[in-house]
Amino acid sequence: MSGFSADWLALRRPADDAARSKELAREFVRTLKPGAKIVDLGAGTGAMGRWLLPFLPKRARILSVDGDAMLLRHAKAPRLRRSLAGRLPRADAYVSTALIDLVSVAWLRKFLQAARGKPVLMCLAVDGRHEMTPSHASDKAIFAAFAAHQRHWKGLGQALGPHAPEALANEARRLGWRVEIAQSDWNLKPGALLDATFKGIVDAAGLPAPHVKRARLIVGHRDILLLPRGA
Ligand SMILES: C[S@@+](CC[C@H](N)C(=O)[O-])C[C@H]1O[C@@H](n2cnc3c(N)ncnc32)[C@H](O)[C@@H]1O
Repeated sequence: MSGFSADWLALRRPADDAARSKELAREFVRTLKPGAKIVDLGAGTGAMGRWLLPFLPKRARILSVDGDAMLLRHAKAPRLRRSLAGRLPRADAYVSTALIDLVSVAWLRKFLQAARGKPVLMCLAVDGRHEMTPSHASDKAIFAAFAAHQRHWKGLGQALGPHAPEALANEARRLGWRVEIAQSDWNLKPGALLDATFKGIVDAAGLPAPHVKRARLIVGHRDILLLPRGA
């Protein structure tokens, strides 16, 4: 068990899919050869693989890799239960969704060594932006405490939290990748995902929830594409 429930991943999936950058996905796919093996790291229930499938070249395969067997049971693609703390499966390309804010800079460096010369598409990494409408006087303190919570250890070193997009881009550029970044924000209207997201933020912040009905919540995310030199 990872602490992420299949219900939560199902609830967030439409917002993730609406937010993903199709431009970066197309650029990523352009670099793949027919039959390419793509590994989805921290795949959970395999949502990214299902979204990416229509973009892929002929005979391309996606392997869903995750440490949580309960989540992987929902994945339709071939799957592998494995901790990301260990050796990563070989692949022609790597993708992830909502993963890199959970990892440390040391994990990113190790990953980039393993992925050298390969295209990488890391989606939906939080970047720390939150916009609540209407705003409330306590929002600033709640989001600051939540940002601190996001930096806590999540099993792969001190988590990067909202620093993840910048950290990945810097490390990858240093190693010679071309880096492209797109905004992939959630734009949440009143409903179950907005309520669950804000409850998660308030609980993690350890502060009382303000009694105000919210009409909109924007959660800032980035998709990050790494292209090897010459791709
Ligand atoms: C926020 S969820 C995202 C799941 C999926 N990518 C999606 O978008 O629906 C993070 C995923 O990373 C996996 N994960 C986190 N730490 C892991 C580790 N050390 N080893 C393997 N999987 C891990 C969790 O099990 C979970 O499925």
